[in-house]
Amino acid sequence: MRKINIFDTTLRDGEQSAGINLNYSEKLEIAFQLERLGVDIIEAGFPAASKGDFGSVQEIANKIRHASVTGLARSVQGDIDAAWESLKGGAEPRLHVFIATSPIHRDYKLKLSKEQVIETAVQTVKYAAERFPIVQWSAEDASRTELDYLVEIVEAVIQAGARVINIPDTVGYAAPQEYGAIFKHLREHVPSIDKVNLSAHCHDDLGMAIANSLAAIEGGANQIEGTINGIGERAGNAALEELAVALRIRSDFYQAKTGLTLNEIKRTSDLVSKLTGFAVPPNKAIIGRNAYAHESGIHQDGVLKEKTTYEIISPELVGVSSNALVLGKHSGRHAFKDRLKTLKLSVSDEESNRLFIQFKELADKKKEMTDEDLVALVLEEKTSK
Ligand code: KIV
Ligand code: ZN
Repeated sequence: MRKINIFDTTLRDGEQSAGINLNYSEKLEIAFQLERLGVDIIEAGFPAASKGDFGSVQEIANKIRHASVTGLARSVQGDIDAAWESLKGGAEPRLHVFIATSPIHRDYKLKLSKEQVIETAVQTVKYAAERFPIVQWSAEDASRTELDYLVEIVEAVIQAGARVINIPDTVGYAAPQEYGAIFKHLREHVPSIDKVNLSAHCHDDLGMAIANSLAAIEGGANQIEGTINGIGERAGNAALEELAVALRIRSDFYQAKTGLTLNEIKRTSDLVSKLTGFAVPPNKAIIGRNAYAHESGIHQDGVLKEKTTYEIISPELVGVSSNALVLGKHSGRHAFKDRLKTLKLSVSDEESNRLFIQFKELADKKKEMTDEDLVALVLEEKTSK
């Protein structure tokens, strides 16, 4: 099994979500929980962005001992200096420096030629490597960059001292096969690629962040970046809980694993949701309220006979206490009787048949039938005699 490093950017790219602003102690609380979850790298913020970011990155770097803490920097000395000041007390200080490489970004945003971008990248990586034991270099908008140019600049920054190369799909534009092929191409054509870790960083604009991250792993990536609950710029980043559980459940296919303690997932998700104020949609994979809930009669019947008929992930794996058979208008007799038994409501077969008809009538008018509804139905049945 290949080990995939998990780079969590909930506190940097995640916090860049419009509408999220975490304070100092909230960031620290999330960082401690990420450490418990077992992520390898925590991107704590962007130290040069504000005094607040500088302070919280410093606090997190000084307190977290079981993950490498990093901070983001543009390719300018001032950013790298600020990052060093905030990160130098960390267990394993690491810099994340980036420059855009795609023609759109070179021409319109940076107004730099291909050669100038290489020159800037090399100079800043050299400068950073004199301070930081680990320098990660990112090619912003890599997925819309000419492949031969990407090969050239990646080799140049490795020679300059980069230890991790990140190939972001910054605008969530790549298709999975295409994105995976970029990784394969870099593995095959960059002479020094085996000296570094190769990382994927996907955004979810077309809903393909997880598919792209998995394709990157197949193409040779050994680090995946993302956020808890998939929060992040625009449509968000790859949701790390989805990636980790997909690798666990389909380890037969991907032959890769993370070092995450999966049963800390629910707690981490709840904390991030509470502190950011971003609710998790009920149907969200892995952590949504309905992810382990079965409503239709056919499914409930199957699950009562054998869980694996409709459940590929056991809820306990991710720290959810149990699955739920939600009673509603699609539920069948089997689940209805099972719930009466759980509630210790003893009824005769004849009563049960009558109650089931009343249950269906009431369920037609409600989104979900609660245990209180069942108790009320049974009491009514017993007292109407
Ligand atoms: O999406 C992106 O390209 C980024 C970089 C700064 C790595 O977040
Ligand atoms: Zn990003």
